[in-house]
Amino acid sequence: MKRDLRSIQDLTAAEIEEVFALAIDLKAKTKRREEHHLLRGRVLAMVFEKPSLRTRVTFETGMVQLGGHAIYLQPSDIGLGKRESVYDAAMCMARWVDLIMARTFAQKTVDDLAAYADVPVINGLSDIEHPCQILADALTLRERWGSLRGRRIAWVGDGNNVCHSWILLAARLGMHMAIATPEGFEPQGEILERTQTDAVETGSEIRVLRDPREAVAGAEAVFTDTWASMGQESEAEGRRRIFTPYQVNRDLLARAKEGALVLHCLPAHRGEEITDEVMDGPQSVVFDEAENRLHAQKAVMVFLAQRSRR
Ligand code: CP
Ligand code: NVA
Repeated sequence: MKRDLRSIQDLTAAEIEEVFALAIDLKAKTKRREEHHLLRGRVLAMVFEKPSLRTRVTFETGMVQLGGHAIYLQPSDIGLGKRESVYDAAMCMARWVDLIMARTFAQKTVDDLAAYADVPVINGLSDIEHPCQILADALTLRERWGSLRGRRIAWVGDGNNVCHSWILLAARLGMHMAIATPEGFEPQGEILERTQTDAVETGSEIRVLRDPREAVAGAEAVFTDTWASMGQESEAEGRRRIFTPYQVNRDLLARAKEGALVLHCLPAHRGEEITDEVMDGPQSVVFDEAENRLHAQKAVMVFLAQRSRR
């Protein structure tokens, strides 16, 4: 029996709270420079099909702080599904390492790794989800707000992988989320469908809108992300024109609730989806958010390792 984090929906609401509590404890220990070798001698394989700063550095640093070791496999190393099948790679890695983190194009690659490897597999971003990011984002809000239930957040821009994981978390934790995207860039219908059971239970309201001003009205946190995700580089120029009205700038932020927090998973394209003024302004928590990738993922690794027995 082992547990994975392929999607935010791999964790129950109670387990998400457990991960937050663990992250807060590990963060305090890290700040006090108190040893917390909860994964002493364990090894994490980090499989990357796409580039990364935050994900690579936070997983590797996290593993060192937990007393373990991380191996970085760059996009050209494994050639998942090309040099060898996902099955063969998963079977080999599971014989050597204790945890696998994978950043992939297809969500199916993460799902297949999780199906074949008998060690925990963590989604470090796929085209469909970025659960580690959302746990770090939510931890950042939780540190400021306490409970997240009933809080209102807004997403402005592309209905992408980060947006998808936020939708799933918001529904699970009973938050209200308004999303404004240009036509044709809405979050996937399948993701919205997957929130229905949770939304009935928690009372979460998820709205998909066109007008960014309507989305941010009353929002206590405003999120944005790049307009062209990794793998969509050839569309970047065309998207820039379409998304210009969706820039998070001073005027848009002024329509949110007073003091609303601003979050961006980074990397940011300053002057495109977010202005310097907002990103460097007093309401921005983007670097707290980046820091919390470390603490949230350490908690995820410990949580999954503790619940997985070989
Ligand atoms: N936010 C995030 O995942 O950053 P990287 O792409 O640098 O890992
Ligand atoms: N949506 C972005 C997030 C980067 C961390 C991408 O997939 O490129």
